[in-house]
Amino acid sequence: MVSFAALIDADTVKPVTILAIESSCDETAASVCVNGRIHSNVIASQAVHEQYGGVVPELASRAHMQNIVPVVDQALKQGFGDRTTGLEHIDAIAFTQAPGLIGSLLVGAQFAKSLAIALNKPLIAVHHMQAHVLANLIPDNRPSFPFLCLTVSGGHTQIVLAKSPLELEVIGETIDDAAGEAFDKTAKLLGLPYPGGPLIDRYAKDGDPLRFKFAEPRIPELNFSFSGLKTSVLYFLQKQTPEFILENRNDLCASVQHTIVQILLKKIRKAVQETGIRQVCMAGGVSANSGLRNGLEALGTKHGWTTFIPAFEYCTDNAAMIAITGYYKYQAEQFCPLETGPSARAEW
Ligand code: KG4
Ligand code: ZN
Repeated sequence: MVSFAALIDADTVKPVTILAIESSCDETAASVCVNGRIHSNVIASQAVHEQYGGVVPELASRAHMQNIVPVVDQALKQGFGDRTTGLEHIDAIAFTQAPGLIGSLLVGAQFAKSLAIALNKPLIAVHHMQAHVLANLIPDNRPSFPFLCLTVSGGHTQIVLAKSPLELEVIGETIDDAAGEAFDKTAKLLGLPYPGGPLIDRYAKDGDPLRFKFAEPRIPELNFSFSGLKTSVLYFLQKQTPEFILENRNDLCASVQHTIVQILLKKIRKAVQETGIRQVCMAGGVSANSGLRNGLEALGTKHGWTTFIPAFEYCTDNAAMIAITGYYKYQAEQFCPLETGPSARAEW
């Protein structure tokens, strides 16, 4: 196994202070990272979407416009103390370039570019999904390379093979809905507000995970499918009364969560068997799920894997993960020109 330290020779590590900005969906976030250590991680969430049952792109862009200056300001203050603006310490600016909502990405990208011009500092474009994986490199207890990462968010579900910080390969992914969508869409069917994932998690704690059975897909290789689960839950609920759904909410949430967790864990187990890699990480908003966290830890203990799960604040969208990715890109001198535009979709 290649150790983390060996990846960047101590003699060649460049000291660097990075300001990172994340605005791909509905969180406006900024972070300061000094020599690979996170000094601040500020996130402004947008409650405005709750009433619409999902993120409204136009409202998200407007909220980013309102939030970005105070969020960056707070990140600089927390990073450097109140007596300075902090900007004079910044050596490079990293931003989320893709994927995400284009109007949301544009706000962060334009802000980052403007700062790069004003400060005459290099710009680093970061892929949001790669950053989720590299969130596992933030704490002191890091995986060494290679490792596997189950990345589960509102828009993506992937198994990633990480050979080094900048060599990440997707070896499995969903063919339809993401795991986060499965949580949010089934939560909506149960009458819960957006985002439903954390609420399902909360109600599931008091429910019986084996009470109701929902269809598990048979998808080849390391790929996933979640659209069938949504349909299975829909058909089941259509046959029930509203009173039944309310009275059995905890068991329904626990059973839905159990099904999603089983689908995810079976594939990560298959990935370990096929690759022989026994260091397993998690990333993305759904990795905040307590059933999934407990399930991965239990599997790790049973099969002798080493498991890594980022702290909650680094699981859901945040700029610390953009900053740590920016740190490795800075070391590799992977800067981007000022003309670099954001992209809603992006291959790795
Ligand atoms: O990574 P993320 O913050 O944003 C995207 O890049 O998509 O992930 C958001 C997703 C949402 O679908 C949300 O419901 C889900 O993560 N989520 C959870 C939990 N916390 C957030 N799903 C299940 N259990 C949770 N505790
Ligand atoms: Zn995300």
